[in-house]
Amino acid sequence: MRLDKFLCETLGVTRREATILLRRGEVTVDGNVVKVASIKVTEASRVEWQERYLPMPGPRYFMLYKPEGFVCSHEDSNNPTAFVLLDEVNMDKLHFAGRLDVDTTGLVLITDDGQWSHRITSPKHKCEKTYRVWLEDAIGEDYADQLAQGIQLRNEKELTLPAKMEVVDFANNELLLTISEGKYHQVKRMFAALGNKVDQLHRESIGRIQLDETLEPGEYRALSNEEIASIV
Ligand code: URA
Repeated sequence: MRLDKFLCETLGVTRREATILLRRGEVTVDGNVVKVASIKVTEASRVEWQERYLPMPGPRYFMLYKPEGFVCSHEDSNNPTAFVLLDEVNMDKLHFAGRLDVDTTGLVLITDDGQWSHRITSPKHKCEKTYRVWLEDAIGEDYADQLAQGIQLRNEKELTLPAKMEVVDFANNELLLTISEGKYHQVKRMFAALGNKVDQLHRESIGRIQLDETLEPGEYRALSNEEIASIV
């Protein structure tokens, strides 16, 4: 692919704007400043603009360790969007493949591939999400059974789909909950329906994609091909 076409697609600029960036010496290919628009770049080329790596145009997939205090939307009048934690070009093309509440931490997937994210968020696909939950009050002995049978949430017609619960620490009111749908505030509403209250909520996995333990809150990384392909 020609370098100017590559810049148009990755940076969302016009051919003329790409030529200006090149003339200014803002673009390097394999470490060398390149000003010629017609040179060819391939998968093997490392193209940087203003010292920022530009991947080959194509779908992008990331995992983010969302900290508390950030929202999963492009704009919010009260809180910063989690998008500010990403340093990528063409941010307006990216979206969250399933949201977390402002006070929930953990795994968030971000992509520009709408079909892929649909397989995560659509109730039809029943993609499992696992949350670590800390409750305010003691874990009831009948919780696991009730969650497996389905819970009647306020203002919903249907029971929730069967969910799996595993106690982590009784003394700490800590458990793991796996659900396969994503209704608004679902986990908080499930425990409210059981007469309890979620104190802290953290998402550990989506399908077979686990939150990378090497990431600190606020950090992100590209997904591996294996992780991308695991969402079916
Ligand atoms: N369920 C909730 O209640 N909140 C979240 O952020 C995610 C699932």
